[in-house]
Amino acid sequence: MIEAMRLDAWVERVRNRTARVGVIGLGYVGLPLTLLFAEERFRVTGFDVDAAKVERLNAGQSYIHRIEPEHIAAAQRVGFEATTEFARIAEVDAVLICVPTPLYPDHTPDMSYVVATMESLAPYLRAGQLVVLESTTYPGTTEEIVVTTIERHGAEKGLTVLRDAVADAAVLDGVMVAFSPEREDPGNLITPRRDVPKVIGGVDRRASAAAAALYGAIFHRTVPMSSPAAAEMTKLLENIYRSVNIALVNEMKQVAERMGLDIWEVIAAAATKPFGFQAFYPGPGVGGHCIPVDPFYLSWKAKQFGMQTRFIELAGEVNEAMPGHVVATVERALVERGQTLAGAKVLVLGVAYKRDVDDLRESPSLTVIELLQRGGATVAYNDPFFETVGHGRKYDLEMRSTPLEQVGEFDCVVIATDHSVYNYEAIVREARLVVDSRNATRDVRSAKVVRC
Ligand SMILES: NC(=O)c1ccc[n+]([C@@H]2O[C@H](COP(=O)([O-])OP(=O)(O)OC[C@H]3O[C@@H](n4cnc5c(N)ncnc54)[C@H](O)[C@@H]3O)[C@@H](O)[C@H]2O)c1
Repeated sequence: MIEAMRLDAWVERVRNRTARVGVIGLGYVGLPLTLLFAEERFRVTGFDVDAAKVERLNAGQSYIHRIEPEHIAAAQRVGFEATTEFARIAEVDAVLICVPTPLYPDHTPDMSYVVATMESLAPYLRAGQLVVLESTTYPGTTEEIVVTTIERHGAEKGLTVLRDAVADAAVLDGVMVAFSPEREDPGNLITPRRDVPKVIGGVDRRASAAAAALYGAIFHRTVPMSSPAAAEMTKLLENIYRSVNIALVNEMKQVAERMGLDIWEVIAAAATKPFGFQAFYPGPGVGGHCIPVDPFYLSWKAKQFGMQTRFIELAGEVNEAMPGHVVATVERALVERGQTLAGAKVLVLGVAYKRDVDDLRESPSLTVIELLQRGGATVAYNDPFFETVGHGRKYDLEMRSTPLEQVGEFDCVVIATDHSVYNYEAIVREARLVVDSRNATRDVRSAKVVRC
């Protein structure tokens, strides 16, 4: 019989970099995480079901804007490779799961990616491995899906998930399981990833200790929590806090507009208070994989506890109504200039869900485009990150980016995403009318600009 590894030996493998890391799901979260481990000289194997992504990575190419091929090449030099073969899970010491957790159209959690991942990897797990779920999800997922799937597959070979109530709490004679939420902030060039503390909730103390050792090698600080569910709830609190506060300023913006006040001036002044206020900014709505999605994971779970999450529902409602507010502003501005929305030519600047990212998911710009089209406008867009826009979970547009030189040919230009490459002064100069939903033209004085 093979003797089980001890926790201190596992931690030593992390220290001397012989521990091997597996990352499942090589997307916006998994790929940067892979590269962080590689920078710290860990040999990483990346797993993905998307064979095209695996092929591109192994050819040294990147598919994420801010990740350069040199980063991939540097990781390859310390042993990084991507694969679709889940049998290779057996080779790694830690498995970090970064697969999507979207919503179904009725706002209930779509756990199919997490379930499929667990079914693919569980047959290959062995004692002494650490499995960490990083995908954002409702409290209870790690226990309900990750632990149960491992134990169901492990039943025949006697493989279980480690729990604290054992004789020798340093022996790794089962699988260690933890939850550690991802706090990736795409486009954030100010806070280095390593400076963002990593929250960890292990199923037992060995899982927490092993995960703290592993993440401690790449993050400056780890934050231990009492359980995976507490860590799952932490991530949801962070994102619900953002969603609710963004909805609050979006509502205040509309009130301010009616009163003839500039909400941006008001927020800037409020932000001078050194305590008790954190600035959030209005916009055309919220986008990305997190803020429009994650809060509803809690709403859904809360219902099982007989609770209604009214703040979450209300924030969702306010934020989802914002593209409509932008389009209503465009229509009003056109009417004031003797035109109608029907028949107008409108150019939408920026289709990415936020500044300087190449991510379209849940982007409010796409809803703005659809609403403008529904109002009878002829719509074009420009986005330096997207040459074309096709079909997605929630949109069906067949469009190609219009060159900026054509700005002057449109009845109205809508600033939906404030990419930093845009020269806003030049855009206002060339345009006939600009509706700015991001305060991107704050330094430009012109009667052509309508802020909303
Ligand atoms: N994108 C962000 O900024 C961000 C930030 C914090 C947290 N998160 C969370 O991280 C998770 C991942 O998000 P993302 O933005 O990286 O998603 P993504 O869509 O960019 O990447 C997910 C990857 O998983 C792969 N995948 C899907 N099913 C798989 C399976 N069964 N086995 C292996 N691979 C599979 C996909 O092919 C894709 O490459 C989500 O839960 C999300 O909420 C995302």
